[in-house]
Amino acid sequence: MVKELEEKCGTPVWKLRQVAEAMVVEMHAGLASDGGSKLKMLISYVDSLPTGDEKGLYYALDLGGTNFRILRVHLGGKEKGIIKREYEEVSIPPHLMTGSSNELFDFIAMALAKFVATEGEDSHLYPGRQRELGFTFSFPVRQSSIASGTLIKWTKGFSIEDAVGEDVVSELSKAMERVGLDMRVAALVNDTIGTMAGGRYNDPDVVAAVILGTGTNAAYVEQIHAIPKWHGPLPKSGEMVINTEWGNFQSPHLPLTEYDKTLDDESLNPGEQAYEKLISGMYLGEIVRIALLRMAEESALFGDIPLKLKIPFILRTPDMSAMHHDTSPDLTVVGKKLSDVLEISDTSLRTRKVVVDLCDIVTTRAARLAAAGIFGILKKLGRDTLRDGEKQRSVIALDGGLFEHYAKFRNCVEATLRELLGPEVAESTLIVLSNDGSGIGAALLAASHSQYLGTE
Ligand code: GLC
Repeated sequence: MVKELEEKCGTPVWKLRQVAEAMVVEMHAGLASDGGSKLKMLISYVDSLPTGDEKGLYYALDLGGTNFRILRVHLGGKEKGIIKREYEEVSIPPHLMTGSSNELFDFIAMALAKFVATEGEDSHLYPGRQRELGFTFSFPVRQSSIASGTLIKWTKGFSIEDAVGEDVVSELSKAMERVGLDMRVAALVNDTIGTMAGGRYNDPDVVAAVILGTGTNAAYVEQIHAIPKWHGPLPKSGEMVINTEWGNFQSPHLPLTEYDKTLDDESLNPGEQAYEKLISGMYLGEIVRIALLRMAEESALFGDIPLKLKIPFILRTPDMSAMHHDTSPDLTVVGKKLSDVLEISDTSLRTRKVVVDLCDIVTTRAARLAAAGIFGILKKLGRDTLRDGEKQRSVIALDGGLFEHYAKFRNCVEATLRELLGPEVAESTLIVLSNDGSGIGAALLAASHSQYLGTE
C-alpha cells in the first residue's frame, strides 16, 4: 500500500511544470473577469508598497489561524525605522470559529481594547489623533476599497455563516464601538498582502509573498494593464498587488489519491481549496491519519483498529513533523507520538518505518507542489528565465509555521524550486523567511493610508 501511495503521489519535474503552466493559465483567466477561474486573483487596492518613510504609532490585527495576533508599532521613517514593536497573541476558543459573527468580533475587539490600554507613555506621542489599525484578515475578501470588503467564503476550519457576504471592516468596527474602543480601520489586507508589504519594506526586490502555514496562498505585484477586470482609475505606480487565493487552485495535473478524496468529503468545505488541502499545515497530518486508518483497516497495520485513529484532525502536522525528523535508530520519537497521540503502543520498528515513509510521501508531494506554485508565479512575472541574458534578482517573502518549523518541508520546497529554475536563475532567486511580515506590513499599509497623512 505504501508503494502504491508513493506512485500516486509522484511529482516528477515534468508534472510540476504542467502544474505551474496550468497555474499561469488560471491566473490569466482570473485576471480577465470575476468568476473567470477558480483562482480568484483578488484586487487588493494596494497600488503602492511601503517606502520606509512611514511614521507614527499604528496597530495591526492579524486574524486567520487558530490564534490572532495584535501588534503595536512605532514607525520612525527612513532614519529611525521601526522604533518599537509590541505583540500579543491570543488563541481563539474553537467554538468561536464556527459560531456567530458578533461573538467572534466582540471577542477580538475586547482583546484589542485591553491591549490598547497598555499604551502607557506612547499614548502621548500623537495627541488628538484617532488610533488607526491595519486589519489582516486571511480569508478571501472581495474588496471595494483599501478599507472595505466582503467575505466571499471561509477557509481553514472557520465557518461562521452570518459573516459571509458581510463587510468585515464594518463588522469589526461595530464590535470596537460596542466595547468602547475608538479606532479606525485604515487598511484591510490579506496575510499575503501584509507579507508583501512587510517584505518590500526590508528588500526592494521582493516580487511575491507566499504563505505556507495553516493555509496556503500567494500574492504578487501585477502590471495594471495586465488586469482586464480592473475598471478603476489608473494608479500612479501602474501596478496593483494581487491576492491569487491559490489555495483554491484546481487542475487535472494535481496528483490526488483516494485519501485526498476522503479528506475533502469530510471537510467543512468539500470541493473547495483543493491545492490548499494538498499542501498546507492544517491538512498534512490529517492526510497521514486517513492513510494510516485505511492501512489499519485493510492490512491490520496495528493489529486491532486503534479507536483514536478514527478521530478527524487528531494527528496534527507538528506531531507528524516530529515523527518525520526522528533520527534515532529505533524511531523512539515515532513510538512515543503513536502512543501519546493515538494510544497505539508496542509498535514494531517495521510499523514505525511505515509511518515515517507516509510522512515523507505526503510532505514531499506538498512541498514540491508548493514549489511548482512559486515557479508558476515567477513564470507569470517573466522571472523564470534570464532577462536579455542578464540575471534579475527576485525575492519571495515567505511566512507561515509550516515553512518555518517543518525543516524537511522547507528544504524540499527550496530544492524543488532550484530544480525547476535551473542553477543559473536559481542563483538570483531568493526565498526569505518573513516572520510576521504580515503584521508589520499591515501596520505599514495603515500608515500609508492614514487619515492624517500629510498633516505632519
Ligand atoms: C487560506 C485563505 C487565504 C490565506 C491563506 C493563508 O487559503 O483563504 O486568504 O491567505 O489561507 O493564511
